[in-house]
Amino acid sequence: MSYKNEYRESIDNSSSFWEDKARDLEWFEFPGEILSKDSEGIHHWFADGKMNTCHMALDYHVNNGRGDQIALIYDSPVTGTKKQYSYSDLRDEVAKCAGMIGDNGVTKGDRVIIYMPMIPESVIAMLACARLGAIHSVVFGGFASPELAVRIDDARPKIIMSASCGIEINRVIDYKPLLDNAVDLAKHKVDKCIIFQREQSLATMIKGRDVDWSTACESASPVDCVPVRGDDPLYILYTSGTTGKPKGVVRENGGHAVAMKYSMDSIYSTDPGDVYWAASDVGWVVGHSYIVYAPLLHGCTTILFEGKPIMTPDAGAFWRVVSEYKVKALFTAPTAYRAIKKEDPEGEMIKNYDLSSLETIFAAGERLDPPTYEWLVDKFDVPVIDHWWQTETGWAIASNMTGIEKMPVKPGSATVPAPGFEVSIMDDNGNELNHNEQGNIAIKLPLPPSCLTTIWGDVERFKSGYLETFPGYYLSGDGGYFDEDGYLFIMGRTDDVINVSGHRLSTGEMEEIIATHDAIAECAVVGISDNLKGQVPLGFAILKSGVTISDNEIKQSLVQLMREKIGPVACYKETVIVERLPKTRSGKILRKTMRQIVDGEEYVVPSTIDDPAILDEIKELLGKR
Ligand code: COA
Ligand code: AMP
Repeated sequence: MSYKNEYRESIDNSSSFWEDKARDLEWFEFPGEILSKDSEGIHHWFADGKMNTCHMALDYHVNNGRGDQIALIYDSPVTGTKKQYSYSDLRDEVAKCAGMIGDNGVTKGDRVIIYMPMIPESVIAMLACARLGAIHSVVFGGFASPELAVRIDDARPKIIMSASCGIEINRVIDYKPLLDNAVDLAKHKVDKCIIFQREQSLATMIKGRDVDWSTACESASPVDCVPVRGDDPLYILYTSGTTGKPKGVVRENGGHAVAMKYSMDSIYSTDPGDVYWAASDVGWVVGHSYIVYAPLLHGCTTILFEGKPIMTPDAGAFWRVVSEYKVKALFTAPTAYRAIKKEDPEGEMIKNYDLSSLETIFAAGERLDPPTYEWLVDKFDVPVIDHWWQTETGWAIASNMTGIEKMPVKPGSATVPAPGFEVSIMDDNGNELNHNEQGNIAIKLPLPPSCLTTIWGDVERFKSGYLETFPGYYLSGDGGYFDEDGYLFIMGRTDDVINVSGHRLSTGEMEEIIATHDAIAECAVVGISDNLKGQVPLGFAILKSGVTISDNEIKQSLVQLMREKIGPVACYKETVIVERLPKTRSGKILRKTMRQIVDGEEYVVPSTIDDPAILDEIKELLGKR
């Protein structure tokens, strides 16, 4: 089938299209309602189907002859460990882990926070929650205690699952003190914390609250999959919005499973039995979808890599893994390819490995910049595919649908909308724009399976943030355009969200944190271009009058504050002290213009600016950076 036909079918006959895809999975009861609408007017896929995602991802394969195939490969250069789990092994481990968390009071619909490094127990914990019909919420290990505490208060979990430590290249990061601090900060009190002790650093346990993972698991009995409805939530994943309060994206079991399974063939061109590797972290959406769920739902072998693209031990780390496990499709963030390119520009390391298994390279998380694209194309004789994603959708909104029709690549473009996504470019008044005109990217409702159906506990925020700007459409928060061939180009966020090393962060939240500093009267944070990380935050701060501490001290304390409040992953390193901030006459800070000045882009002085002279002041200060 051609892409055009597949796409048209997905839009013109969406229910029968997705019903057909849903038949590729084993349901306990096939859904009668393919697409329905709730009392809030929100669409749900496969609402009344009876299923269990863990059954579809593990038990189904064990029952159908795939039990001995490797399901999960754990490769950890930072600890010198390698371990493989067959589908049977993984099913058994997950069933026991589900028994353990059940013993600790978790039942269907309860929330479980998972704050873990990249170890197999993280994957096992996620699948164990799915097995029980509990809702997991994985929090990325690079987040600091206050971020974890906000998520605890919002998700109100019954238990938290964590590990004693994570390892960042050669540094051991103790997770337990961060967890203890978060539990203290949170108003919601959890019953239990189940802690996986890693030998690199043993955690001190709190009597009565903490449970030793390995001991508890040993004595637990395996449990079967609990049937859930298609519209029951599988997980909540928090992502940055424009304010300090993260948004709990809710993903439902039914639509998620169907879209995941479909994407493995249509986007990634993989078959059951193939080895697929998403070099991401289980704390991010890419990790949820393409380290854990999609490859397993499709019967592939997935890889959990506890390392970095460089320094573990060198820029050949990825190529070693690809050759060792015969990876067919590799997916990571452009920042990782840039890090490798920087260390090994000539690609000498690539030559050390047999990469003949590798058929396609994928990138997402930020735009794949043309120089990095060209480098990849030059060094590898395989298609290099950029595809556009959001935590909210859980899978690519636009991609080269390589499993349907391999289309010619245009560097800088995410190619074409994935089936089910009816993408429009709109001006600020909701008028559709023509080819090559840049505007807001919106997606016509209903969104296809797997996309968020609400913000956890806050349907009004879901509606106001995504659905009300252009009635009948989902507002993506990204800007871009279609060219004359229907190729989509993503030009960046239209709000205060930035992407640092493929990690989504809120500059609004950073401003809220800076504003808590005693010496600061006013501030703004913008995301500026960075050769390695794509974007990094840059702060501008006006000091209160009478402040006696030095500028340097203030700058250092802001770096520290950001590490304590958000975590090292914020990569907040620099503040420019200014006398004034450029604003419109109505008082809105002109962040976009400031960003353009820092990045050396051409800019138009906004007609609404209050005092254009401030832009020159900023330029002068930046010149002294
Ligand atoms: N736990 C604790 N700390 C973490 C962490 C984790 N899981 N992940 C990152 N950090 C820390 C790092 O140690 C670093 O701390 P430091 O400031 O004390 O040195 C900080 O957060 C910033 O990390 P990062 O942005 O990863 O920068 P880096 O310079 O350490 O590494 C890259 C740069 C490009 C190698 C790295 O960002 C990378 O591998 N990126 C791939 C991105 C990715 O997988 N994105 C997922 C979406 S697809
Ligand atoms: P996240 O929710 O963390 O996946 O981040 C989503 C955001 O990352 C999107 O809204 C985009 O701004 C950006 N993004 C992801 N993939 C791409 C891509 N291929 N091209 C451009 N931007 C991207």
